[in-house]
Amino acid sequence: MITLAQYLNEHSANAAVSDLITTVTEVGKTISQLLQKGALADILGEAGNQNVQGEEQKKLDVLANDMLLKALAQNPHCAGVASEELDHATPANKDGSLLILFDPLDGSSNIDINMAVGTIFSILPYQRQGHSSEDQDFLQAGSQQLAAGYLLYGTSTMLALSVNDKVVMFSLDPDSGDYLLINDHVQIAADTSEYAINASNYRYWRKPMQQYIDEVIAGETGVRGRDFNTRWVAAMVGDIHRILCRGGLFTYPFDTKYANKAGKLRLMYEANPMSLLIERAGGMATNAVTRILDIEPTDIHQRVPVVLGSKNEVDYIKQLHIQHGE
Ligand code: F6P
Repeated sequence: MITLAQYLNEHSANAAVSDLITTVTEVGKTISQLLQKGALADILGEAGNQNVQGEEQKKLDVLANDMLLKALAQNPHCAGVASEELDHATPANKDGSLLILFDPLDGSSNIDINMAVGTIFSILPYQRQGHSSEDQDFLQAGSQQLAAGYLLYGTSTMLALSVNDKVVMFSLDPDSGDYLLINDHVQIAADTSEYAINASNYRYWRKPMQQYIDEVIAGETGVRGRDFNTRWVAAMVGDIHRILCRGGLFTYPFDTKYANKAGKLRLMYEANPMSLLIERAGGMATNAVTRILDIEPTDIHQRVPVVLGSKNEVDYIKQLHIQHGE
């Protein structure tokens, strides 16, 4: 079987990008081992502080963040690191050619209940080599990403990755400690009857999203003429993984639940890297109307509504929004 190192050697045009991916995935092995030990490694529960988003941090959020930050800052190609957990980006080697952003542990409310969580990462070019990087340097549209991927710590640990025009998947072999290629061409079917949404937010959504959910719940008795099924992992990384494996729709739409948040998910740590994977696997990724990868960021921690997955379903939601004048 083909290892990650062999794959990167043959398919990544940028050796610095490959090296950064290797750093992330090596730390991922340690995170995976800690998760397997769970309570036995004293990694469960609250850390006792809040992150920059005002969310309670779990012990493993902090641990994963510190491990990734330390390893990446030492990588000579890395000019700067931005984490969902930290107020500002951390400058690293000013001669490095790359910037990296990560969500160290996505879906952290799943940690204490032994459910899937993951690490998401996005790699951008660094334009000001020779100068110390700043938050501003990270404000590049998702279409500029050189590579993106995630590690899913589920019943097995998996890596989904795109370093070229394809999306591939690896499984971490617990015996050899290698990531082994298990799918060299991930493709998402254009049609689906499966959707993921936190429906408890229904009353905070805009009209077109309420209409969409009314329609899929009506199933074969409504305008869609067929039944749909809901799946919700409560960790974006798990929901996106399911979509890359068998298609589907994932949305965390615009809502008015919190006055200052347009959506729950973060553009640069979650939406951009996942949108790159989804598009390169043949799917579609929007904020309901606009392509996510075209959004010009204004803040490294900005949030964005997300609708992504099987092309025809994402497009259906876009048309509903257009009809409603959104
Ligand atoms: O990062 C936020 C996140 O944990 C996502 O991974 C996930 O999709 C979402 O929040 C779950 O949110 P909720 O609390 O609405 O279930």
